[in-house]
Amino acid sequence: MPFPEKFIDELVERNDIVDVVSGYVRLSKRSGANQFGLCPFHSEKTPSFAVNPEKQIYHCFGCGKGGSVINFIMEIENLGYRDAVAFLARRAGMTMPQEQDDAESRKRARMLALNKDAARFFYEQLSSPGGKRAAEYMARRRISPATAKNFGLGFAPDTWDSLEKAMRQKGYSDFELADAGLVRRGKSGGFYDTFRDRLMFPVIDVRGNVIGFSGRILGDGEPKYMNSPETLVFNKSRNLFALNLAKKSKSGYIILSEGNIDVVSLHQAGFDSAVASLGTSLTPEQARLLSRYTSQVIIAYDNDGAGMKASQRAIGILEKLDVKVKVLQLSGAKDPDEFIKAKGPEAFRKLLEGSETQVDYRLRGVTEKYDLSQDEQKVEFLKEASDLVARLPGPVERQVYAMRVANLAGVPNDVVSAEVERRRKRLVTKASREEERQQERPERQAQPNEKELRYEDPVSARAEEGLIRLLSLEPALGAREDLPEAAAFSSEALGHIYSVLLERLRRHESVSSANLGEALTGPEMSLLVRIQQAPVNLQQGERALEDYIKCIQEHKEQRQQDHAPLDLLALAQKQREKGKRYE
Ligand code: CTP
Ligand code: MN
Repeated sequence: MPFPEKFIDELVERNDIVDVVSGYVRLSKRSGANQFGLCPFHSEKTPSFAVNPEKQIYHCFGCGKGGSVINFIMEIENLGYRDAVAFLARRAGMTMPQEQDDAESRKRARMLALNKDAARFFYEQLSSPGGKRAAEYMARRRISPATAKNFGLGFAPDTWDSLEKAMRQKGYSDFELADAGLVRRGKSGGFYDTFRDRLMFPVIDVRGNVIGFSGRILGDGEPKYMNSPETLVFNKSRNLFALNLAKKSKSGYIILSEGNIDVVSLHQAGFDSAVASLGTSLTPEQARLLSRYTSQVIIAYDNDGAGMKASQRAIGILEKLDVKVKVLQLSGAKDPDEFIKAKGPEAFRKLLEGSETQVDYRLRGVTEKYDLSQDEQKVEFLKEASDLVARLPGPVERQVYAMRVANLAGVPNDVVSAEVERRRKRLVTKASREEERQQERPERQAQPNEKELRYEDPVSARAEEGLIRLLSLEPALGAREDLPEAAAFSSEALGHIYSVLLERLRRHESVSSANLGEALTGPEMSLLVRIQQAPVNLQQGERALEDYIKCIQEHKEQRQQDHAPLDLLALAQKQREKGKRYE
């Protein structure tokens, strides 16, 4: 029986991969998001073993091994999956889960069903007589009925037990309602609705499950918002409001704002890639989630001190994940909602197009710190700004910004350029050069690193890898009916990974590498990690998916023809054609 997802997630969280690996490998060099050391799985003189603390995975650019902390322990301690999990549980002082897994997954499914029913109930209330005030409030905020429907907005009536009664009638118990945070227990022991007289925003995860709610008071009053508590299915810091919608956007970027209302307003105005971070400042988990769906985030936080500070923090977190960040300067409005209402969608679009790049934004931050009319401060400024520029990946970009810095400080260009290049040299370690070289070698791209695995049909295998990559990023695709069977895959390993993935997706289970560890062999896991790391453009996801499927099917038919029992007539025909061609 598999371990519960939550247990594995907690296990991985409590066994930080850098800590664990450091017990075996000296990690010294840093390069970008990775820490490097000498690979413990093959012999080498220059470090090509990379550990990524953000993604909590390791990967050796030399021998190709990789995976989560669990795979690392399996490999280095020579343990099976269960024993490796037990090893790490002991290390983190956690007790192993017993047999409650099944009960737990039943409970989750039940809570999700309850949440969905509750969302439907709230939505229906909007058009009932009691929901008139909510409808009026929405009209005042200029939220259209179509937008309300798109988000599944609803109304929690101004009573103590409307939801409780309705859900009881559907067969849910008070205890189930309480576990889901929808009712609370009063002093006298009775239960009452948590959300009363509020505009309801369902929080929907990327798989389309209603995992919780956020309820806004109609008008002024405290608390302005109430949110579902942490439950078996809801964790605020790991989800983003409206990511279920934004992930389908074709815009190529995601807009990150603070408020639910901002997001609703942005979508209504045509900016369908807006999300909000559920009232917390962006957490590393949310950033990781974002980085799976986009490579560019445009921050549109509130136009105040807190928003500015939150932007700086978010930039730092996102940058570590190689996400490009731009920051919007909203002027003359306190937030995106007000901006759009006051100036219209076109003005917002202009703002988006002209939004400062993260480099401009950070450079401005550095500039504001120093008084450039003072010599000592100017020197400090040059140091800090050169360091910032040195970290830019593109040489042209570095030159442009070096010039900008020189202008700001009033010193000659080549002084700054030289300083930047000096710092750059220090930053670029041998290991990262090695990394670049490895990735450029074409034969590596055609064949998996794992010696145990070989692709008989590299073209089909490419498509198979692509399909696996898309499925692990876009779980909802697992529900499509035109997906090929694993048997159609040319590579046995990819076929196995695919069938494991698909089976879990269809059961709505997590497909994080830690959770997949049990079902996959070591080489398969390494292969999967590498497949998942390759960049993907989800905006083109559906198209790509169809191309992959077609390619896999065609190659399968091709192989079948090649192996079909020889049809002598056809063979003779072929021979004749061949003869013709080569005469
Ligand atoms: N929030 C919260 N609890 C509060 C206040 C805010 O959880 N007491 C969260 C909500 O997710 C909210 C976000 O923080 O959407 C931003 O707060 P705020 O700007 O106050 O709310 P908006 O949704 O922007 O609403 P409005 O435009 O009506 O001010
Ligand atoms: Mn706001």
